[in-house]
Amino acid sequence: MDSKQILENKRMSAIQGGGEAQTEKQHARGKKTARERISYLLDENTFTEVDGFVTHRAVGLGMDKNHPLGDGVVTGWGKINGRLVYLYAQDFTVLGGSLGESHGRKIAKIMDLAIQNGAPLIGLNDSGGARIQEGVDSLAAYGEIFFRNTQASGVIPQISVILGPCAGGAVYSPGITDFVFMAEKNAYMFITGPEVVRTVTHEDVDFDSLGSAAVHHAKSGVAHFTAPDEESLLQQVRWLLSYLPSNNLEQPPSIRSSDDPRRLVTGLEQVVPEEPNRPYDIHDVLDLIFDAESFLEVQADYAGNLVVGFARLNGETVGIIANQPAVLAGVLDINASDKGGRFIRFCDAFHIPLITLIDTPGFLPGTDQEHNGIIRHGAKMIYAYAEATVPKLAVILRKAYGGAYIVMSSKHLRSDLNFAWPNAEIAVMGPEGAVQIVFRKEIDSSGDPDTTRQEKTQQYREEFANPYIAAARGYLDDVILPEETRARLIAGLESLAAKRQTVPQRKHGNIPL
Ligand code: HXC
Repeated sequence: MDSKQILENKRMSAIQGGGEAQTEKQHARGKKTARERISYLLDENTFTEVDGFVTHRAVGLGMDKNHPLGDGVVTGWGKINGRLVYLYAQDFTVLGGSLGESHGRKIAKIMDLAIQNGAPLIGLNDSGGARIQEGVDSLAAYGEIFFRNTQASGVIPQISVILGPCAGGAVYSPGITDFVFMAEKNAYMFITGPEVVRTVTHEDVDFDSLGSAAVHHAKSGVAHFTAPDEESLLQQVRWLLSYLPSNNLEQPPSIRSSDDPRRLVTGLEQVVPEEPNRPYDIHDVLDLIFDAESFLEVQADYAGNLVVGFARLNGETVGIIANQPAVLAGVLDINASDKGGRFIRFCDAFHIPLITLIDTPGFLPGTDQEHNGIIRHGAKMIYAYAEATVPKLAVILRKAYGGAYIVMSSKHLRSDLNFAWPNAEIAVMGPEGAVQIVFRKEIDSSGDPDTTRQEKTQQYREEFANPYIAAARGYLDDVILPEETRARLIAGLESLAAKRQTVPQRKHGNIPL
């Protein structure tokens, strides 16, 4: 065999992964192989592989007899929408995609390249976790990956895609990354599997109810995106990246928008009812204001009372944080605060301006929230808004009561441009609650308590629950008509394009975690 033949044979062997039978098994489960996933994710013919000949050096438990080329992970770089990305894809057909020393080193090498070259990192996860035969070497390899995930945080966007098992400590790399995508079938994440759970807590649980995409999207908040199949999930990764800069030294990509920047927004009055307590779906508002079909929601099934996501305004990427009156009346609670705080910090790290749409009665009261630390969690939102130096714009659509007025991108946290619609109510609390406290004696002693309550409520509303007191103080920059919202936000963004804001020198702040 000549040297060319030897190379060809080795290349062929690496490409075959775990072999035909294992590949068939993978397909039978409804899963693609690592290489199929890569070619589906990347622009055509853009993948360059490295470390295809890497093997493990383990000898115990029969490992000396099996040295699959590539060691169960395919690594390299390629392009998405013409832009460079680094990626790794675990190959479940080789030793269950388990992670040992060499497998881990390959991932670490790609992470180093991604950080040095300022390009996003994408991990396609499908693995039985730490390779049992490699003992502490596999644990060490995980530690090296976690360290790099942390170093890369805020420097390059990091995306984890879970397409199979992701068990044990393996979950913590995705846990540190910015966005976790999970396939609805075959993907699950947990710290300890059903067997261990049964032994330790006597809880009877299966893989799906412990850590499926549905669980992590709706309950735990770990997963930001899900899709019914691998193809549409990988398409979503491409879509997300279209909003993001490649690293923290670049601006987000802008596109030419065909949606008129001066367009008056018609129909908002029909969507948002005048009565402050009538619900409506904030998505309908977003669809009308932002560039047509540009909204990509993040964590859509988690803490639905706060909607966050990316969109475009005149072709520029923006991050949206909006109360959702259709869910729990749009209150702020623990999960919404966590969701909002993390999203704001991501946007701030990558120069994505924040647009906040406000319509909330305040924080959710009750022992459940208090005992689980709404003080600590709500503080995250305040902290995140206050430390963010990207352009911050806010519109009060209807009501902004109490703490939520301050938290939701108020001027006092250094928001740049704050508007309110003419019917907006800004007050320490809603009229009904306020009147009951301030005028209780008068209401109780009146011959007709209902009428007195109504009169006082009306008086309160006229005196306090309107936007003009805040506007008189300069706490609002302007009161605008709903139809002017799009044009005013776009003009505001343009005026803030070169915003510079310095922050005090320090090692780092101490966000309440
Ligand atoms: C070595 C592993 C492996 C592992 C799977 N395999 N997991 N080899 N180390 N961790 C191998 C299997 O032996 C098998 O090899 C092949 O991969 C496919 O596995 P199957 O069990 O046949 O597949 P399936 O029935 O689909 O089950 C998949 C699975 C199961 C649910 C992932 O394999 C499993 O429970 N694995 C262990 C998961 C786990 O507990 N991992 C460690 C977590 S602790 P053959 O040769 O038969 O094809 C951890 C600590 C990290 O990760 C800490 C970091 C800080």
